[in-house]
Amino acid sequence: MYRFLFLISFLALCGAAQAETPRQIADAYAAGQGGGFRASAARGAEFFAHRFGVSEKMPACSTCHTDSPLGVGRHAVTGKSIKPLAPAANAERLSDSAKVEKWFTRNCKEVVGRDCTPGEKADFMVFLMEAR
Ligand code: HEC
Repeated sequence: MYRFLFLISFLALCGAAQAETPRQIADAYAAGQGGGFRASAARGAEFFAHRFGVSEKMPACSTCHTDSPLGVGRHAVTGKSIKPLAPAANAERLSDSAKVEKWFTRNCKEVVGRDCTPGEKADFMVFLMEAR
């Protein structure tokens, strides 16, 4: 019986170690930028609304994610609804670094025409984390 309890608590600890906070993921991006980079929510907000003009259908991140990261988005091509990006409106957001990186890669290519820099990602994350 004790062995069983030990196993259960061990598994729970492993699960806890894997869960990531938005802060941890944002800090990792900031560190990746180097040079003592400090993320800025204001720069992230500008980035979110900026029209890059690379794609006609999706000129900005806000094209699909609406003008507010708290809003329910709508995919510019498929019309599918997209849950809010801000953790304040959707607790599942920014809690899985692999998922975050996957969508940065895809969306940056489409909208910005290149990979986003680690600094741009850190700014964007902090902007989403502070949205209320
Ligand atoms: C063509 C529509 C579209 C555009 C434009 C778009 N996104 Fe997204 N984005 C999506 C979809 C679809 C998802 C994933 C669906 C979901 O998780 O609800 C997503 C998910 C994300 C996520 C994942 C967050 C998480 O933890 O779940 C991030 C971060 C993100 N987008 C950032 C951006 C950024 C930065 C831009 C602009 C460079 C951008 N998106 C532009 C459609 C878009």
